[in-house]
Amino acid sequence: MVRTGAGQARHPRHFLMCPPVHFAVEYAINPWMDPSVGVDRERALGQWRRLRDLYRELGHRVSEIDPIEGLPDMVFAANGGLVVDGRVYGARFASAERTPEGPAYLDWFRKSGYTETLDPKHVNEGEGDFITLEHLVLGATGFRTDAAAHQEAERFLGRPVVTLQLVDPRFYHLDTALFALPGDNVAYYPGAFSRGSLRVLEALFPDALLATERDAATLGLNSVCTGEDVVMAAEATDLAERLRERGHTVHPVHLDELRKAGGGAKCCTLELRPAPR
Ligand code: ARG
Repeated sequence: MVRTGAGQARHPRHFLMCPPVHFAVEYAINPWMDPSVGVDRERALGQWRRLRDLYRELGHRVSEIDPIEGLPDMVFAANGGLVVDGRVYGARFASAERTPEGPAYLDWFRKSGYTETLDPKHVNEGEGDFITLEHLVLGATGFRTDAAAHQEAERFLGRPVVTLQLVDPRFYHLDTALFALPGDNVAYYPGAFSRGSLRVLEALFPDALLATERDAATLGLNSVCTGEDVVMAAEATDLAERLRERGHTVHPVHLDELRKAGGGAKCCTLELRPAPR
């Protein structure tokens, strides 16, 4: 049991989120985005608030960064950096549209008391393409993040980074195709990875949970697992069943308004991993 009582998690996490006050689909930098389809910003805000409140109900701490007008994708906080052991590896976005988000997030970290920060040389979209496990970090390349950023992050964070190659444009960030499970395990959609990377995943995670294309296509892999609890897209029902079989408590969330931009629960969530005590 992870929870010790209502609203108390035994291993509370600290998340950074950005309310979708300026959310819109005005450009298309992934196949989910169609600027001719309107978004309902109030609905997006309502869905986002439910996600934030759920984290708090589960006993986690949520900090918020002020949204900036003209940055409609800033709600996807996962892309704002990678924080491990209290060290902040900053983001450098691949697209011109999102480039200002890199300094905006770094600025938040510096103002919030993070003293060890790195303004990166190499293109990387933060936790979107880096997934931190207990003993290593998985880094993806193929659509957004340069493989050179994996080495840069490895040097700066002092954690080994294993490079994986993404091949399906629908799963353009690692966190759309894979999420971390307890005990250095993962759940993933095999079709998102190159043959070589599949061999790596099979070798590293013989007990991984493999997701179907149907669940991947609702961004079911864009989930946040905090031990027993898994916060995930309500539509990914097969994956939810597999997780329950493994003893997890699944908390379904509806984020279809934000999915119009290609993001789900994990994309809205940047984990602030503290310095070791
Ligand atoms: N529209 C955003 C983009 O394409 C969505 C980002 C989703 N974030 C994520 N961590 N997968 O950049």
